[in-house]
Amino acid sequence: MCHKQVGSFRSYKGVSMKFLLTAALAGAVLASPAYAADVEAGHAVVQRWCSNCHVTSEAQRGQDTAPTLPDIAQRHAGDQTWLRAWLTSPHPPMPNLNLSRQEIDDVIAYLATLAPAQKK
Ligand code: HEC
Repeated sequence: MCHKQVGSFRSYKGVSMKFLLTAALAGAVLASPAYAADVEAGHAVVQRWCSNCHVTSEAQRGQDTAPTLPDIAQRHAGDQTWLRAWLTSPHPPMPNLNLSRQEIDDVIAYLATLAPAQKK
């Protein structure tokens, strides 16, 4: 998730520590592009595989057999482990979608964009 910059910039030492930490995290992400979740790709997967049953945006109205994705995103915001588990194994009446790990990560990243700012 996007983390907010907290604290004051007055302390030079504090800033440089934060900078080093941020740089280290960014480096770790860049070093493993295969696992970088891609919101756009996730959106495409959702449009293709989920939108038949799940309403994918607040604006859209559809069948009420399946919860809407914004609703799911809100209820499970921050609980990526649960989402991953749900999407990894078949859950009737949802079909087994056989998503790859990469696709699941992408979908989870996309779902995170549907949830309003997470409350901590
Ligand atoms: C064939 C219809 C269908 C498709 C396609 C489908 N779902 Fe579902 N999904 C359902 C139904 C129906 C439920 C409700 C299951 C229940 O309540 O037991 C559900 C439940 C869920 C839940 C659990 C919600 C909760 O909080 O209990 C998640 C998460 C979910 N779907 C995500 C997805 C995603 C992501 C996709 C696309 C990759 C997808 N679904 C594709 C029908 C579908």
